[in-house]
This record gives sequence, structure tokens and C-alpha cells, in this order.
Amino acid sequence: MKSLLKKLSETPAPPGYETAVRAIIKEEILPFVDEIQVDNLGNLIARKGTRAPNGLRIMLAAHMDEIGLIVTHVDEQGFARFSSLGGLARASVRGARVQFLNGAFGVIGFEHSSDAGRLPPFEQMFIDLGAASRAECPVRVGDLAVFERGLIEIGSRLVGKALDDRVGVALLIELLRQLTAQAVRSPHELYFVFSAQEEIGSRGAAVAAYQIEPDLGLAIDLTASGGTPKGLKMAVELGCGPAIKVRDQLTIADPRLVSWAVDVAQHAGLPYQLEILERGSTDARAIQLARSGVPVSGISIPARYVHSPSEMVDAADLQNALLLLLAMLSQPLDLH
Ligand code: CO
Ligand code: ZN
Repeated sequence: MKSLLKKLSETPAPPGYETAVRAIIKEEILPFVDEIQVDNLGNLIARKGTRAPNGLRIMLAAHMDEIGLIVTHVDEQGFARFSSLGGLARASVRGARVQFLNGAFGVIGFEHSSDAGRLPPFEQMFIDLGAASRAECPVRVGDLAVFERGLIEIGSRLVGKALDDRVGVALLIELLRQLTAQAVRSPHELYFVFSAQEEIGSRGAAVAAYQIEPDLGLAIDLTASGGTPKGLKMAVELGCGPAIKVRDQLTIADPRLVSWAVDVAQHAGLPYQLEILERGSTDARAIQLARSGVPVSGISIPARYVHSPSEMVDAADLQNALLLLLAMLSQPLDLH
């Protein structure tokens, strides 16, 4: 899974421009699915299996897009001004390298204000593309960029850009591979949704859930974690197992789904944690609000430095999330 994750992580796909990542996923999953389609927003939707009498229609979602930057203005000296697509943190961008979809590279810079501790707003930052004039600048208004950063391993940790949510994407691909390799006979009709435009408000998952009409939905995404020296008080730590979503900023998970995931983890002897994320949300929110409502939860991978160029996860959490999902989907579930 690591080499696949590296390839996925290093491929640029800002919101609305998921083509390159979608092509990789499509090629990977084609042998393992029964039906595949790309909808009008660019969601890649794959079905595996049909519903047995005791089965449900389950939607699993992992988003393809990552935080992006979009050029709003190029000034006479050749610096590109930008705004963000998704929740970019000002603290994590100074000196960050970016890569544009047209292949151009740049560095994010800003000038120090008299108050050295204060970060300027994005309007006062710029991307330096090594150009001396507007005419020389290789990008123009409307061009998109993402962080440029290769995936590395530090001990058991994986560090790279866009692990939010290429980790989820890699997990769903591996899940499809394992369901096939182990000839798992799931009673459920499984919809694997590689969603578009999550970072700007889960727009892809919303229309995918409307079309699929699932009986339940699970978002596979990153979550924040405690565990750093002065970190937030959050009972989720790296390396202690996948986190079962209980709530996040915009979603209350269905308690029946939380119990399901917890019971399966306990039976299988897998480590797990409970996620209560005070800031941030996932595709679970959009799925929950589709049509007349859908029970949702999520399996979240604990992470540090989310939305920075160096997001960090623990490889053991990926492995245990995979085992948990395999176990959950292998058996019938009574929602009543
Ligand atoms: Co995100
Ligand atoms: Zn995410």
C-alpha cells in the first residue's frame, strides 16, 4: 500500500481538478469492481457485489481532492497573488513549494511586517515563480497549484502532502483488492465513492449520495490527534488504531453505526479509538443530509499537521483500518 500511497500523494488534484488522481484509481480498481462510472462532478463511483436478503447498500467515501491554491492576480514584478481552495493554514505556508497543474513551480513568500509575530493575510502573500515581470510569469489568473512535497517514511510514520485524503483513497483501493483476493462474500452492495471537491464543502459526496441512495454511509478520511507536547486535548493518538467517528464539527454519527464498528473491532481484537473532532468535518456530513437522511459514521486515520505540506500518519493505523473495514463489511448488519 505504501508505494501506491506515494504515487497518489505526489499527484496533484486540487478541488474540481481531480483528473490525474482519478485516472490512477480507475486503473487500480478496474479488476476488482462490477461497475464503474464517473458522474457529472467527477466523482468516481464503483459498485462491488449485490445485496443479499440480509444485506444493505453501503456507501464508502474517500475524497480525491486536496487543499489547493488559485491565482487571483499576477503583478507587474511577476509575483502571483492567490487565494486558497479549502482550509489552508497561514502558519504552514511560508517557504512552502507549490506545483501548478501546468508544471510550473513556485515558493510562497511574504514580507515581514513590523510585528514579527503576526502572520499577514493571504492577500499579502504571493507565489514567487522566479519571474521578473508579468510577461515572464508562467501562470495566469485562474491557474491552480498544490503543495509540492515527496512522501517520506520516518520510523513507522508516513509524511507527505495530500495524505488528506489519499490515505483514505489508498485504503479503499486496498480494501477492494483484499475483498477480491480473499473472496469475501459480503452480503452488502458496496459503493466505493472516490469523491470530488470535499475540501470546499463535500460537494461531490452530496451528489453521489443522492444518486446511490445508500442505507448507510462511512467516510474514510483523516482526523486530528492529540499527543504532541502542547497539543489539543483530544483522545486520539497516532499509532493507537483507527478512530471511529462519534462526532465532528458538522456531524453526529448514528449511534448504531458507532456500536457496529466498536463491536466488530472488539470481536476481531483490533485496536480502535473514538473520534470527537471539534474542528473539521468529512464527506459523512454530506451523505447524512442526502434525500431523507442517511445513517453515517466514519473510520478516520489519526494524523498530525493536517492541511500542511507535511501531514503525518502512522502505517499501523492504516493496516488496522483496513482490517476493521474488511471485518465490518464481511458480515450482515441489523440496523433495527
Ligand atoms: Co481536508
Ligand atoms: Zn479530508
